[in-house]
Amino acid sequence: MTHPAVDLSVKPDVKGFFDEATHTITYVVKDPGSNACAVVDSVMDIDYAAGRITFSHADHVIADITTRGLELQWLIETHVHADHLSAAPYIQEKLGAKIGIGRNITVIQDTFGKIFNEGTEFQRDGSQFDRLFDDGDTYKIGTMTTSVMHTPGHTPACMTHVVGDAAFVGDTLFMPDSGSARADFPGGDAGILYDSIQKVLALPDQMRLFMCHDYGAGGREIRWETTVAEEKANNIHVGGDKTREEFIAMRKARDTQLDMPKLIIPSLQVNMRAGQLPPAEEDGKTYLKVPVNKL
Ligand SMILES: [Fe+2]
Repeated sequence: MTHPAVDLSVKPDVKGFFDEATHTITYVVKDPGSNACAVVDSVMDIDYAAGRITFSHADHVIADITTRGLELQWLIETHVHADHLSAAPYIQEKLGAKIGIGRNITVIQDTFGKIFNEGTEFQRDGSQFDRLFDDGDTYKIGTMTTSVMHTPGHTPACMTHVVGDAAFVGDTLFMPDSGSARADFPGGDAGILYDSIQKVLALPDQMRLFMCHDYGAGGREIRWETTVAEEKANNIHVGGDKTREEFIAMRKARDTQLDMPKLIIPSLQVNMRAGQLPPAEEDGKTYLKVPVNKL
């Protein structure tokens, strides 16, 4: 089990930007000791029915960074999202920064390269990204050191990023009243997800945890920040004394009831390319595919 070097005295300034269309939260994570920042899990807007992409959510994030005079150093993907498209290349073009994701992106590229019948020109080595993180890797945001923990189960490439007293858990956990993410995508595994959640819950009790999604359970207002202590006590899927076996049984039963995410087809085609659209065809235009009866 990985124990990242935790320094609770470092308190990054974290600002969340909620995307109403996909219930995703994008974070700007600022170093209190400098002007450096990172963006975690950006969102590109898509009207899938119309085949139209726009960038109003990303533009809000860019405006926040520029009006505060911050220097963007990293664009982090906690995992390959199946429910929204990344805007990392768009933000990178405007502000610079390196795009980073977990090393097992290569597993996802291999799986979905086949599903989308991508030709040999689609590299499955993660080379579309600037940095591939391994478990235990560290990187700097200004003066802060971020540690990366491999937390698979929802997908094979899921990583939790720990910086100071804050951890960005991706889809490993949801808010305590909302439980955990599904584990039935290719390469997902409920038992492995349980083990990854235990790694997150082994962080100090007062660690702030930032969710990638919130759906406003029971009609409450949207929330995206909790703590390890709150999750341990109250998480409806893993809190209290829930066992690994109970979790696996619950997760499997629940996952069979879930529909495919509305945007899974465009999301995977774009996110496995680090947020780039597929290459243009002979007419100079870009197309997204719909594989028939393959998902
Ligand atoms: Fe996800």
